[in-house]
Amino acid sequence: MLTRASRDAKRKEAAPLLLAWYDRSRRRLPWRAEPGERADPYAVWLSEIMLQQTTVQAVKPYYLRFLHVWPTVADLAAAPVEDVMKEWAGLGYYSRARNLHACAKAVAADLGGVFPGDEAGLRALPGIGPYTSAAIAAIAFGQRAVVVDGNVERVVARLFSISEAMPAAKPLIRARADEMTPGARAGDFAQAMMDLGATICTPRKPACAICPLMDLCSARASGDQERFPVRAAKVERPRRFGAIFYARRADNCVLVRTRPPKGLLGGMSEFPGAVWSVDFDMNTARESAPLAARWRRLAGEVEHVFTHFALSLVVFRADVAADAAAPEGCRWRPEDKLEQMEALPSVMLKVAAHARGD
Ligand code: ADE
Repeated sequence: MLTRASRDAKRKEAAPLLLAWYDRSRRRLPWRAEPGERADPYAVWLSEIMLQQTTVQAVKPYYLRFLHVWPTVADLAAAPVEDVMKEWAGLGYYSRARNLHACAKAVAADLGGVFPGDEAGLRALPGIGPYTSAAIAAIAFGQRAVVVDGNVERVVARLFSISEAMPAAKPLIRARADEMTPGARAGDFAQAMMDLGATICTPRKPACAICPLMDLCSARASGDQERFPVRAAKVERPRRFGAIFYARRADNCVLVRTRPPKGLLGGMSEFPGAVWSVDFDMNTARESAPLAARWRRLAGEVEHVFTHFALSLVVFRADVAADAAAPEGCRWRPEDKLEQMEALPSVMLKVAAHARGD
């Protein structure tokens, strides 16, 4: 149990120490305003949606490309949703792209192109939940909001040695983060916590010796930093199996189709195949072929990991005549323009590479 004095010290001393460290050591990220400047709410919103479940490194090129193609929320709102999905391809969690577009349309059409400046107004928009509304309110509008992402959870869990396991510990972590959050510079404070978690208070081998909060940290004092946040025992991801068909016409076109709008990879493009399942029967795989052809099963498998399951795909390939018709629901696309023309998720890029022997 922490003493009251130790909790009080963290509440009062953490923010000034952290903000001073942030002023010296903040990461230069493309969506961040320079010190003393206020960030563009559109840019903050775009970055925060992209950063949900995705690393800063992966987001950077997508963020820059989106801002280049659609410099304002009105530009994004006016774009066809298919174009947005295409630009999003490879970033994962594709419902974010759909919601991004829906949100841009709502802001442009109903709010005159101006993002709401408080958490409640932001939360009413598509794709903006408690975390994102707090982050935008704090970073773009300077509101005092409590911003808790995975990095912040780790920092707080260590600072207070919170021994309850995740996710049950979330409300307690949030309450402690709330106590620490200052009234002024809440956006900088939130981003300082994120930077600390990303660069110093890392999951493995945290660099405690250079941490600005070293003297306040309970886990550091007892030397068991890596124990926090405490995780409940892991359950194994189930594995699903499937077959996928890469049909290549003599005119260098390949066969693709669009996945159903809802559910996993909703609305994204794919090569035709069978539904992925845990008890998929490879002996009947060829029955799912989209057209009659001399299908060859390629050696090896394509592996991909989604949040809730791992996937193994066997790939069949057939080379067909230039006049082969597309079956209903499918279309032919030039192989060398697939990525420009279609919103292909990462798993399908792996399938294409495998089928081409790259
Ligand atoms: N992760 C989510 N939002 C972030 C931000 N504004 N800066 C750094 N990492 C983040």
